[in-house]
This record gives sequence, structure tokens and C-alpha cells, in this order.
Amino acid sequence: MSHHMSKITSPAVTGFIVLALAACGSHDGDSPGQDTGTGGAASGSGLTFGGAPASGGAITQPAGGAPASAAAGGTSSSAGAPATGGGDLPCDVQSIEAKNCSTCHAATPLFGAPFALTKAADFRAHGAKILERIGDAQKRMPPEPNTPLTAAEIATLTQYINSGAPASTCAATGPGTTPVDNTSTTPADPSVTCYNLKARASAAGDKFTVPTTPDLYECFNYAPPWGSKKVQIVSTRPLIDNAQVLHHWLLYNGDAAVTDGSHSDCVGAHPNSALVAGWAPGGEPFTAPPDVGVQVSSGGFTMEIHYNNKLDAGQMDASGVEICVTDKLRPNVAAMHWLGTQNLNKQVASGTCLPTNTGDVTILRSSPHMHLQGRHMTTVINRAGGGTEMLIDKPFDFQTQVSYATPAVIHKGDTLTTTCTYATPTPFGQSTNQEMCYNFVLAYPAGGLAQAFSLLRNYDCTGLF
Ligand code: HEC
Repeated sequence: MSHHMSKITSPAVTGFIVLALAACGSHDGDSPGQDTGTGGAASGSGLTFGGAPASGGAITQPAGGAPASAAAGGTSSSAGAPATGGGDLPCDVQSIEAKNCSTCHAATPLFGAPFALTKAADFRAHGAKILERIGDAQKRMPPEPNTPLTAAEIATLTQYINSGAPASTCAATGPGTTPVDNTSTTPADPSVTCYNLKARASAAGDKFTVPTTPDLYECFNYAPPWGSKKVQIVSTRPLIDNAQVLHHWLLYNGDAAVTDGSHSDCVGAHPNSALVAGWAPGGEPFTAPPDVGVQVSSGGFTMEIHYNNKLDAGQMDASGVEICVTDKLRPNVAAMHWLGTQNLNKQVASGTCLPTNTGDVTILRSSPHMHLQGRHMTTVINRAGGGTEMLIDKPFDFQTQVSYATPAVIHKGDTLTTTCTYATPTPFGQSTNQEMCYNFVLAYPAGGLAQAFSLLRNYDCTGLF
């Protein structure tokens, strides 16, 4: 694989970037961008990556089941420090760091992390802040959706830092966790085709140049690459190109047409578009159950990418999402339903969804969406027969909006109350200094969580009062 190395900006990211390229044969890297939209990939069996045909003809996903994971952490063998392990941490600290921090606080920090945490000196320099953040419920490290440290892990780090973080040696300095599975699998289902929606400068597909604006939110627009063909989404998966500048992304789909290839600064305002997928480092790919397909709105897609470029100007990126669709429509049609409320301007705002379903509705996932003042979201199921169940109860951080698997079945007469908590009471609106309170709930059948009067949009189940 060494022939790929020259295309990779950071040696420290090769551990998983290589995984992305491993299946790609002759990746030339010179004309990447949106793959497949019009190219040979569109035909069920093929997908191009970086403008070159994928080896083996296809990068697709099985109809069910998660993509196979590749050997984690391919070696970070080229120039520069390895992604983890300066070699002078004690083994217990080393293993906590490798498992929980090194995705981002690698020797070359990734995904917006401000510094490396791979050496004893790093723990000495940042000890107080580490202790603060690993115990902070609201701004915890590692951030959502990564698993919190256990009490034992917190105790180990606390003891190490309080004892002055002395240098030690740990022979077993392996590679860190692989944050993103970018391997490809052969489709079990030949009706499934995958398309890459990637950051691009124009419809021609050249990479986007990320300016040094510390926090840039750029929206990239895509006409549906499958044209007017009726399809369902069966999986989505993050594609990571330049992990040194990528922070997280959100993918929206609505009924409005978009200009394919256009892009602009954006942040927040996606009127009447549903959040289809969201990814932050540590987030997992999504695969629908084999009998479920996700309905696609008739308009275009917009991917909002948050960049954090602490490097020089001219960092190039073509990160994005792989969307796999089928034209063999599946019996259970899932859609994004809107829970929450528009009645904001309070510290705590609640909206109850009173769905009109007569049969069961199966919930797969929840994607909380608020703006900068958003701090926490819960959605509670109020059972018709009495009793409540928590569907989701998560801290919210605008910078790491992710989607969570929240399996549940809603029966006739059940209602769902979504409650958003804010740092400061803020009125509803599209811009980031206004607020939102939406839980985008992926559920089937489509429309299962909709109320009698849908004033605002399809599948609206936001509380009206
Ligand atoms: C998914 C990526 C990711 C992981 C994993 C992660 N961090 Fe972070 N960390 C960040 C980002 C991004 C920031 C900067 C934004 C912020 O402060 O929230 C940050 C900030 C911090 C800060 C605050 C720095 C400051 O100057 O205020 C500390 C301390 C920290 N991380 C420690 C850790 C520790 C310890 C771990 C592992 C137990 C960890 N992080 C895991 C991404 C990550």
C-alpha cells in the first residue's frame, strides 16, 4: 500500500485512511470529489473512488449487517510519529489513552483536538484540564458518541496525573483504535448501489480547499446521484479524507432542489430538510435492517461539514458520506420524523408528539438537533396504558451532533415528549444564534409518527402547544 502514502497529508492518519484506499486499486487522488454521480459507478456493480475505478468493481455494502471491519490500525509506518504511544507512558495509562483518546489526541492531533496526548510530558502539561474534562458531564472527554471512561479508568488517570505524570516505559505500544471503518465489502444484494457525496470545490469533483478559519461550516450540495429513480437508502458510512481539518458533518435531505456542485458557508439553516445522517469521530456507520429501506425526499442533499483548520491555508479535503441505495424497494419504509417543539425562548422547552398511528411504529434511531445554546435532550415515551420509558437522554453539544440507535416500538395511543434544555432562553429560528429543538427520529412505517394536522411539513410530530 505504500504507493498511497504520498497522497496522505498526515502520517498519523494513515492507520485508517489506508483502510479507505485499500480497496481502491489505482487511486490517483488527482480528480476526487463526488464519485459515481454520473460515472460508471451508478450501475449497480461499480463505484469509483477518487476518480479511479474501484478494484473488484464495487464498493458496496451488504443489505444487512455492518460492514466487515478491517484489521484495525494499519501501521502508521511512514514518516512522523505513530498515531499513539510515545513509548514513555505507563502501560495502564497507555492503554486508556489508546482506547479512548488517541482517535483525536494523536501525535498529530485530529478532528479538532487541540493537542497530542501520547507522552508523559503531554499529561504533565495538560493534567489539570484532563482531570476537569474526563469528569465533566456536559463537556466530557472523550466526547459523544464515544463511550465514557469507567470509574476505574478515571481513577488510574487521576492517580497518574496527581503523582506528576512520570515517564515510564510500556513495551506494548500498539496502534490506537481505528475511529472510522472505511473498509469496503462486496454487496450481498446486487440491487444495492453506493454513491459517495464528498466535499468538493465544484461539480467537477476537485477537492475543497479548507481555509484557515478556525471554525468553518461549509455546505456542499448534491442532486440525487441516482436521478429520478425511486430508491431507498439502506446504509450510510463516513468517508474520512483529511482528518486534520475535519471536525464533524451533518447530512440533510429535503424536497427543495439544490444546485449540484454548489457550496457555501452555512451553519444551521436547513429549512424543512431532515437530518439524514450525522457523524462525529467515533460515530458508527448506519445499516438499515434487511427488510427496511429509508425513504428519500424528492429534492437534493446538503452536507454541512464543520472544519477546524489549525494548519496552513490550502488544506485539501474530500471527506463525506457513502450512501448505499436499493431500487428493489423494501417492505418497511422508514422516514425521518420530527419530534420536539418550535415553542422556545425558555430554558427548558418541551413538545409532545401525539401520533395518529393505529398500528405499531418501530423506531430505529434518534438524532438530536439544537443550536449553540442547546445542552441536553430527552425524549420520553408515555405509554397509553401508563408508565414512561426513556427513548433518549443525552447531553447535547453543537459540535458533536450524532445519531444514536434508540430501538423502540410505539403502540397506538402512546405519545412522545421531547424536552430540550438550553444554556440561555433563545427564540426559535434557523440561524445559529436562534434555537431549535428537534429530535429527528428514524422510524417505520413512514408517517407513523405524524399528527392529525401537519402544519409545518411531512412527518411532523412536534408539539403544537
Ligand atoms: C472524538 C475526538 C476526541 C477524543 C476521542 C478525545 N478528545 Fe479531547 N478534545 C477533542 C476536541 C475536538 C477538543 C477541543 C474542543 C473541546 O475542548 O471540547 C478536545 C479538548 C480536550 C481537552 C481540553 C483542552 C483545553 O485546552 O481546554 C482535554 C483536557 C481533552 N480533550 C482530553 C481528552 C482525554 C483525556 C481524552 C481521552 C480520555 C480525550 N480528550 C478524548 C476531541 C477528542
